[in-house]
Amino acid sequence: MKQTTDFWKMKQSGNKIVMVTAYDFPSAKHAEQAEADMILVGDSLGMVVLGYDSTIPVTMDDMVHHSKAVRRGAGNTFIVVDLPFMSYHLSIKDTLLNGARVMQETGANAVKVEGADEVIDHIRALTKAGIPVVAHLGLTPQSVGVLGGYKVQGKSADEAKKLINDAKKCEEAGAFAIVLECVPKQLAEQISKDLTIPTIGIGAGAAVDGQVLVYHDIITYGVDRVPKFVKQYTNVNEQITAGLSSYVSEVRRKEFPEDKHTFTMKEEELQALYG
Ligand code: KIV
Ligand code: NA
Repeated sequence: MKQTTDFWKMKQSGNKIVMVTAYDFPSAKHAEQAEADMILVGDSLGMVVLGYDSTIPVTMDDMVHHSKAVRRGAGNTFIVVDLPFMSYHLSIKDTLLNGARVMQETGANAVKVEGADEVIDHIRALTKAGIPVVAHLGLTPQSVGVLGGYKVQGKSADEAKKLINDAKKCEEAGAFAIVLECVPKQLAEQISKDLTIPTIGIGAGAAVDGQVLVYHDIITYGVDRVPKFVKQYTNVNEQITAGLSSYVSEVRRKEFPEDKHTFTMKEEELQALYG
């Protein structure tokens, strides 16, 4: 399994870091089989798996429950777990307890937190306590209400300057990597050059040290419309719907099950049963 220092080396040698989300046993197995470098148990699970319309309702219990399943499916892949809404803001003690819970109960390798400002001290405390932290700047979905929607961040010079400074603060506080979501490619490139730690982009262009996408978006599973920054590599919705519809109609047409799907008693046992 890779370690935090391996990701620094990948940045130095120009090898892209590939991260994919996973939320359960099968998706984790798929991610490991595909040889992703890192799995993110994202709080996007609230939307793509649990059907909420944002990540705000996701709880620590949700994250722990799903992360355990992901670890069972991917025993040999570095796993990052999102700390959910309001689980790393109340106090440093609260943050450390939540971070410790993720590490001890799920077997994950790191946590991810959104934002800078007041969160910086929490990144520092987690790191000092031995919990590797991935920072997350740009579009931070847990703040969607404050940001006023899911929009590209850092388009103006002022916003970009703050993002560059925030990224440096995250690195200085001990984050070992940083996710940049929905920012202009020029800004992501600048941040990637300014930092020693790797940047992992989503909607941040190609001049970053790695990429992350949501599992369900990559394979078009349960989602319909996807953001501009997603590439849909396959469409399993179509395959799933076709398979399930065939099952439904074959049962109704009495075509399933066939003999080959069926167990049979021996003739002599039937004799014994009915005489
Ligand atoms: O929750 C998530 O899936 C994420 C990624 C989009 C970075 O935070
Ligand atoms: Na997230």
